[in-house]
Amino acid sequence: MLFMLFLITNSALITGYEDCFNNKPLKYHLIEKCHRSKLGIAAYANFTSITGCQRLGLEKRGLAINFSPPEAREDDMDQYTCEVLRCAESEGGSSLVNDTRFDYYSLYARPIPIENATCVPATGMFHLLPNLLNYTEAARECMNLSGNLADIITEQRTEALAQVLANASVNEAFVGMTRHNTSVFRSDNGNSLDCTTYRAWAPGHPWRNFYEYDCMLITRQKTWKTTPCSSRRRALCELVPNGPYKRGSIFLSRNRTETLTQKNSTEISTAMALFK
Ligand SMILES: *[C@@H]1O[C@H](CO)[C@@H](O)[C@H](O)[C@H]1NC(C)=O
Ligand SMILES: *[C@@H]1O[C@H](CO)[C@@H](O)[C@H](O)[C@H]1NC(C)=O
Ligand SMILES: *[C@@H]1O[C@H](CO)[C@@H](O)[C@H](O)[C@H]1NC(C)=O
Ligand SMILES: *[C@@H]1O[C@H](CO)[C@@H](O)[C@H](O)[C@H]1NC(C)=O
Ligand SMILES: *[C@@H]1O[C@H](CO)[C@@H](O)[C@H](O)[C@H]1NC(C)=O
Ligand SMILES: *[C@@H]1O[C@H](CO)[C@@H](O)[C@H](O)[C@H]1NC(C)=O
Ligand SMILES: *[C@@H]1O[C@H](CO)[C@@H](O)[C@H](O)[C@H]1NC(C)=O
Ligand SMILES: *[C@@H]1O[C@H](CO)[C@@H](O)[C@H](O)[C@H]1NC(C)=O
Ligand SMILES: *[C@@H]1O[C@H](CO)[C@@H](O)[C@H](O)[C@H]1NC(C)=O
Repeated sequence: MLFMLFLITNSALITGYEDCFNNKPLKYHLIEKCHRSKLGIAAYANFTSITGCQRLGLEKRGLAINFSPPEAREDDMDQYTCEVLRCAESEGGSSLVNDTRFDYYSLYARPIPIENATCVPATGMFHLLPNLLNYTEAARECMNLSGNLADIITEQRTEALAQVLANASVNEAFVGMTRHNTSVFRSDNGNSLDCTTYRAWAPGHPWRNFYEYDCMLITRQKTWKTTPCSSRRRALCELVPNGPYKRGSIFLSRNRTETLTQKNSTEISTAMALFK
């Protein structure tokens, strides 16, 4: 009887959690054929098909992959055919090199408009806005960068993003979480704080002054604070992955090669949960 009860409660919890994170599935998009990124490698393996490589990429939370398709491989290749990269190239693509054996794929299929985008390995690309803005202005600025205010709903994210602030010597910044209807904090991508048990409130937070302290800050001490949405703060944007990828829209500064006219197999989709 007790055992049954446990099962029921447990499955209800699990279902509830899944409902919370029904985010868009991530895809790797072909960005540059005959190129290989020299960004840090999180994992590598030999796969004959791109599908296997992508699956490894998502499992290892890689933001990009280098894959060597069978037709481009060399007989004496001493490298693995699939390299999962911790980060993705931003504008300029300065660590992409010519390599006819490899194609470069990235989760970020829209141009990353800022060379200063900060990569947090296995998490995403972020940008700390330079000016002091209120919440609405900050949200709009992030959107203008093809992004949103950052999601801090997990411990891993809270800790990694606090480090981004610390590196920039910034004490606190708006993130994408606001209070709805006096109690429920919800992230800008729809996830409710009720979905998880993790909390990082600074002592005394969240302030119960509803309707006034309805926006959220992350601090460099790895804590969360409530603040009025009208206050002016730095803000942390998270660049949103996924396409659609418009050929040639990334790395305009690079010289295009004839391979880029090839239209096939641009997007390979894999329905797997977003990194959380
Ligand atoms: C991986 O595959 C390449 C190309 O097929 C091959 O040359 C290489 O020896 C393989 N590496 C390992 C460690 O199996
Ligand atoms: C890469 O290839 C292009 C075209 O084949 C060539 O113009 C360019 O110089 C090469 N770059 C490097 C760094 O080898
Ligand atoms: C990027 O960094 C440079 C130098 O660190 C700075 O001058 C510039 O304002 C930054 N750009 C943005 C959009 O923050
Ligand atoms: C959006 O970005 C462009 C260029 O990056 C800039 O000119 C424009 O003012 C920005 N708009 C807003 C609303 O911030
Ligand atoms: C913070 O700076 C250190 C040292 O420069 C660097 O190794 C680390 O990757 C940075 N972390 C983040 C999240 O930017
Ligand atoms: C706000 O919460 C109250 C009580 O929890 C509930 O009755 C009401 O429907 C909620 N309103 C909205 C707009 O969600
Ligand atoms: C932010 O400032 C703008 C004016 O610059 C104002 O229209 C807007 O209502 C403010 N947002 C908040 C949440 O106070
Ligand atoms: C791109 O290629 C053209 C010729 O194909 C060359 O004239 C030009 O200098 C190249 N630009 C760069 C940035 O390499
Ligand atoms: C495009 O891909 C399909 C399916 O993989 C294949 O049958 C077709 O020949 C490809 N076309 C070109 C032009 O490569």
